[in-house]
Amino acid sequence: MSIFKKKAKTERVLPTHIAIIMDGNGRWAKKRSLPRTAGHAAGSKNFKDIARYCNKIGLKYLTVYAFSTENWKRPKEEVDNIMKIFKEYLEDAKNFKDENIKVRFIGDRSVLDADIIRLMQESEDASRDATGLNLNIAINYGGRDEIVHAVKNIVDSGIAPNEITEQTITDHLYTAGQPDPDFIIRPSGEYRLSNYLIWQSAYSEYWFSDILWPDFKPKDLEKAIDDYNHRNRRFGGI
Ligand code: IPE
Ligand code: IPE
Ligand code: MG
Repeated sequence: MSIFKKKAKTERVLPTHIAIIMDGNGRWAKKRSLPRTAGHAAGSKNFKDIARYCNKIGLKYLTVYAFSTENWKRPKEEVDNIMKIFKEYLEDAKNFKDENIKVRFIGDRSVLDADIIRLMQESEDASRDATGLNLNIAINYGGRDEIVHAVKNIVDSGIAPNEITEQTITDHLYTAGQPDPDFIIRPSGEYRLSNYLIWQSAYSEYWFSDILWPDFKPKDLEKAIDDYNHRNRRFGGI
């Protein structure tokens, strides 16, 4: 018998919280000579598949960027189409209930259509007791807007300035009570945050890829998680 012990295969660590920027729907459609709306429909379907997969592998938190505070700049027809797809998704609220996925929405929902606001609330209520994946859907979400919203609430609550800590701000964000994202994935070939989780991402690891969102499959997520397992997170220590 060899005197050398076989090196123990180290167990893969799943990040606690993965955040994804679901980008590239428009380019996916363009490549196929389809209207951008077809890209958003394909992106929405892919989102459901990836959320289900994350739940299956036991991920605790997934936050996806669906619509930013800057996306209102797009032509009205495209914005209306994205909202229509979002509404169709919400109408199927049992998606969350049956699958034990707890859904929450982050972002400023006050300016959305009343129907959509009601459906969002119903989805959150229907999945409140789920114990599987915590799924955050960022809709009309902007990191800077979120911080402004938090500051207003802090001022409103009358907290004295010298009592404000980093934790105070964390506690007033849409993500209050949830862990920061460990790992942020952006497909589509862009290397930027686009106003996503800017407070929460202070120590996140990043993963970029040219894959367009509708083509981003569980095997790509697995590859990203493997890469995450080779990162050395120091948080300012040594
Ligand atoms: C992401 O895909 C969806 C939203 C921003 C709502 P895009 O629509 O940004 O796709 P590209 O970047 O134009 O390819
Ligand atoms: C980020 O994608 C927002 C979402 C995926 C919802 P964008 O397509 O809006 O980002 P930019 O404009 O390329 O930075
Ligand atoms: Mg884009």
